Formats: sequence, C-alpha cells, structure tokens
Amino acid sequence: MVYTLLILGGGQLGLMLHEAAEKLSQKLQIEIKCIFLCAEGEICTKFDHEIGDVTEFQDVYNFGLKYVGIKNVILTTEVENVSSLAVRALQNNYISCFPRAKTIFTIQDKLRQYQTFQEAKVSVPNTIQVPDLDTYQRMAEAGEINFPVMFKSTNGGYDGKGVKYLSNDEELPTNINGQFILQEFVRIEQEISVIIGRSTTGDVFVYPVFDMEFNENHQVKTVTFPSRIDQELQIKAQEIAKICAEKLNVHGLLAVELFITRDGNILVNEAACRPHNSGHLTIDGFDINQFEMHLRCILELTDDIQDPNPTQLFSMMYNLIGHKNCKENYNFSNFDLVNTYCKNQGYNMTTKDYGKNGRPGRKLGHINATSPEELTRHQKSLLARKLALIQVS
Ligand SMILES: Nc1ncnc2c1ncn2[C@@H]1O[C@H](COP(=O)(O)OP(=O)(O)OP(=O)(O)O)[C@@H](O)[C@H]1O
Ligand SMILES: [Mg+2]
Repeated sequence: MVYTLLILGGGQLGLMLHEAAEKLSQKLQIEIKCIFLCAEGEICTKFDHEIGDVTEFQDVYNFGLKYVGIKNVILTTEVENVSSLAVRALQNNYISCFPRAKTIFTIQDKLRQYQTFQEAKVSVPNTIQVPDLDTYQRMAEAGEINFPVMFKSTNGGYDGKGVKYLSNDEELPTNINGQFILQEFVRIEQEISVIIGRSTTGDVFVYPVFDMEFNENHQVKTVTFPSRIDQELQIKAQEIAKICAEKLNVHGLLAVELFITRDGNILVNEAACRPHNSGHLTIDGFDINQFEMHLRCILELTDDIQDPNPTQLFSMMYNLIGHKNCKENYNFSNFDLVNTYCKNQGYNMTTKDYGKNGRPGRKLGHINATSPEELTRHQKSLLARKLALIQVS
C-alpha cells in the first residue's frame, strides 16, 4: 500500500512527522510518501516539497488539486494558520483532508474556539471580544476592565507571541495585531495538556495528562510526565479533552491546553489540531509517539492500537530556545555537564536539534530525559534545574 501525505507547513513538527512516517512505513510494511508545502528556508525543504505560502488560497489549492482522482492521498497540516477556504475547496474535490476545513477554521480563531467549547458546556476563562485598540482604550478609561487581564490576538499567535499580561490601564498592549480578546487573569495552580488521537471513524486514543511549565515570555519551558495533579482531576481533564475533540469533529491529533485553577477548577485555554510541543516527550517515553498517532488516525491505521502507554515511568522534555545573544550558528553550553549528570542518575537523555537558523526566542530543538524509575519531587526539580543550565547562544 502506498500513501501520499500532503503536509501544509515545513517546520519542526513536519520534520518529526516525516521521521514518524518513515518508521511507521517500516513497521507496517507500507509506504508513506510525504510532500510538504512550505516557505523558502523552512527545514522541510530538505524533503520532497513545493514552495508556497500555506495562508494563501491559491498556493494551497494548486498544491492539492494535482492529486484529485488519485487514490490514498491525504492532506494534513502541521500549523493551524493555513487557508481553510482552500482546504474546503480541496475537500469539495474529494481530496481527503484531516483535520477537516471546518475544524481548522474554528481552531484558527481563539474567540471561535471559546464559543465552540462553551456550546459543548466546557469551561473556559471569562473572555470578551475587543474589536480594536481604540475600543480597548475607551473601555480602560471608562473603568470597564477588571485588571489584571490577559490581552490576546484572536489569531496568528503562537509561542506566547500574541499574548500580553496587563496589570493596569496605563500599560498599552504592543506588538499585537488584528482582532483581540480580553481575558480574566486566571490564578493557575498547574498548566496541563491532554493529547488525543481521533481516527477518521471517530475512535479516540488518549494520552495521560502532561504538566507544562512556562518561561517569562509565555513559552513552554518543560513538560513532565507523570502529572503532579490529583488522579481525579486528571481523569476529568481527559474527559474534557474528549468532549472538545468530539465537538470539533477532529481527525488526527487534538492537543488541549488546560489550566488547573488554584480553587481546583479546570478551564480550557486553547486547542491545536496537530502535533504539539507538549507531546514531544512521547517520542522517548511512550509506545506510540504523537506523530505516529496522528499518522495512524488520518491514514486509518488504528485497528491494531489502543490508548498509548508509557514505556518509562518518568519523562521530561526541555525546549532548547535561543538565548537573547543567540547567533545563527548557535552552540549549546553546559551540554556535557547535563549529559553526565543524567548518565550518573541513570536517566536516558536524547537531544533533537531541529537544524534551524538560530535566533533569540526561537525554538531550536528539545531534550527528552526519561527514567525507568519514578522520580521523587526533589529529583524532578533538580533535573529541571540542571536542564535549565543549557544555554543556546
Ligand atoms: N487567562 C490567562 N490567565 C493567566 N495566564 C494566562 C492566561 N492566558 C494565557 N496565559 C499564559 O500565557 C500562555 C500562553 O497563552 P496562550 O496559550 O493563549 O497563547 P499562545 O501564544 O497561543 O501560546 P502557545 O502557542 O505557546 O501555546 C499560557 O500557556 C499561560 O501561561
Ligand atoms: Mg498556548
């Protein structure tokens, strides 16, 4: 059997999808050919690709249109900011697109996401729409805003780029474009994620809860399994994520980011219909990693699988983010020191360098540290502190 997988986007998620496709091809004795639509300079240009802008209708449409009438062609995406109109047009031409155009359209806009989750009776932070900056200023002057608040772009934000914390009405949101929402500032006990695979026939495969820690720029710093939160809350969070996946009618992966509040509630922060940064630890810590799960769900290869299981009792992922002095050709400092520490502790450490040009604040790779034994709280925090010694500059 030969599958042709058309992938919108060519960043690190595409790279890891490609790797998973090669492994799955071997495992199941099939062939999965990946073809990317990506921009000049993106890392997946080293694979079979076409150059184009995934946000442009014509580029996406022309990319897919060549495959009308050809068997076993599936279009998917590694980013949500793609032309959903073009995906819809391809669907109308009988190209299998997973996720569906409607799912992508809903996910692209944070306000639409919230409205959809509320329809499904899923709790989200209190949120209001703000059409433009002038309206924001008028509301702030009239004392209509309950500071502190989170000010967010409704679309195009990623890695905390469309998010700003505002403590009072004197601070003006900067570097944020487009449509906005204002959101209550939630007192968060723990940020978690739940990743779900949902097949084209609606079967769901759920990962356990992962804990996420963020840096001061709202970027994911570390992700840890198992979660430190109560078992009962973990089961609730998994149920909420399932409701979101059903409501969005997602096919492939859905990663749901949730807040556990200090008063023990669970709120959905946002969701992504693609592999997610919080799932990179599944590459070394689980029997089915998130990329393989996505492929299996969209290619209808789920007959022989169940919910994914950890192969390690502990996993931690650490993002390698460009330091403020990061050069294009960067180095990792303190890497050997941390590697030796992991070896001495009996942890397995693997490093993934995405091969991108270095830039301050850019995600350039990640490290997974796993252990066949459980770790104490002290051991976990020591490991996180050691990993934080690695600087990318
Ligand atoms: N309402 C809120 N109250 C408190 N903190 C928040 C709130 N909204 C967002 N944050 C913080 O900012 C982070 C980034 O926000 P959000 O996930 O909405 O943005 P993003 O740019 O889409 O992020 P990413 O792409 O990295 O997931 C959250 O993970 C959380 O740490
Ligand atoms: Mg987020």
